[in-house]
Amino acid sequence: MAKMWAGVTAGKTDPIADDFNSSLRFDRRMFRQDIAGCIAHAQMLASTGIIDPEEGELLTEGLAGILEDLESGKLPFDGSCEDIHMFVEQELTARIGETGKKLHTARSRNDQVALDLRMYLRTERDEISVLIRDLLQVLTDLAEAHKETIMPGYTHLQRAQPVSFGHYLMAYAMMLLRDLDRLKDWKKRANVSPIGCCALAGTTYPTDRQLEAELLGFDAVAPNSMDGVSDRDFVVELLGVLSMLMMHLSRLSEELILWSSWEFRFVSFSDAYTTGSSIMPQKRNADMAELVRGKTGRVYGELMALLTTLKGLPLAYNKDMQEDKEGVFDACDTVKMCLRILAPMLASMSVRKENMLRAAQQGFINATDLADYLTRKGLPFRSAYKLSGQLVALCMEKGTVLEELPLETYRQFSGLFENDLYEAIDLKTCMEKRTSEGGTSVASVEKQIAMVRKELSE
Ligand code: ARG
Repeated sequence: MAKMWAGVTAGKTDPIADDFNSSLRFDRRMFRQDIAGCIAHAQMLASTGIIDPEEGELLTEGLAGILEDLESGKLPFDGSCEDIHMFVEQELTARIGETGKKLHTARSRNDQVALDLRMYLRTERDEISVLIRDLLQVLTDLAEAHKETIMPGYTHLQRAQPVSFGHYLMAYAMMLLRDLDRLKDWKKRANVSPIGCCALAGTTYPTDRQLEAELLGFDAVAPNSMDGVSDRDFVVELLGVLSMLMMHLSRLSEELILWSSWEFRFVSFSDAYTTGSSIMPQKRNADMAELVRGKTGRVYGELMALLTTLKGLPLAYNKDMQEDKEGVFDACDTVKMCLRILAPMLASMSVRKENMLRAAQQGFINATDLADYLTRKGLPFRSAYKLSGQLVALCMEKGTVLEELPLETYRQFSGLFENDLYEAIDLKTCMEKRTSEGGTSVASVEKQIAMVRKELSE
């Protein structure tokens, strides 16, 4: 069949070139957006008198029929079509005849594809936001249950100070809250309609871009037609937001992998989310978390790939831009899969409080509190720090911990030590007393949970 664009050329291309050029195999997933855009376009054409009202209706009905048949699977995608836009138009003309050929008045595939992609990613953003909220729900519920569960907090992966497991989890909740906010913010810039920019320069027809934008739920129209058809900032920006989200999920996954190892044994996953080894019978691997960590790389890669694709492009549309879709589709799919697996995996994991406490008891993580005790008694912090260090060294030498060292020993180091020191370095006190804003105390964790829950209720 002759190409729809056959004009100057006879439209005869090598099948290899056709295949190379075609994007239908991946842009077909935008069929709903493409048809919605076509319907709005037909309505705009009719309302501005560019086509007759009856023609507008005929186009709309034809398009609605195509949508129905694609949804039900009755209509297969014709692989010989170059892309989803050509496919819909070809099918429409096959169904309703000559009028179908009027649909492409005052538009171009250049503004059409930019429109479809914006609408598609808008929906993806909504779905991803819902999934982030689901994960936030799990994290806050878990944090609530563990706001008093003591574990060692780390710096440099060395036991540092006691924190509650709830506080730890809420740190991840804060990251996700920012991701949610970034997605919200993304829409402000992304929800701008390119349709009506046409090929690059606008059109001589008396179109109504505002109407078309309103019909399709956009907040504004692109103010410059050349920018409108060639702007892919919204794709890059979404990939950036998703990369950051994946970075957070990957860090959480890394913790889950560590915590579930025999070295930590802080958590264990339900059988539903662990795998065994084909050779080592004792193994229970955190494959799901490893995959989340691993898949982060491909999302970063997709961001880099698109930035690189765009960097040398002159205005306006260039076919290079067809390369914008597969990466961002894959990124959205990947992010959704990761969010969907992490939520139930966390919700069903068992937390081994005893092991967390044991680890907290073994790393001298109350040494700062010992120094603070002396500081409260009047010793400058630097000197208190030094004394504490010497006491820790002594404990290490004797194979004991600060809590077990007798008062006489303490008093050999400083007369400031009294019996109340044991209360001051009790792990529970250490955690509880960190009441500074954003600290690990129960009250602070409760405040954080309330903050996230408020956001979730909106
Ligand atoms: N399939 C193309 C894409 O994904 C649609 C736009 C094609 N426009 C053009 N003038 N060839 O970018």
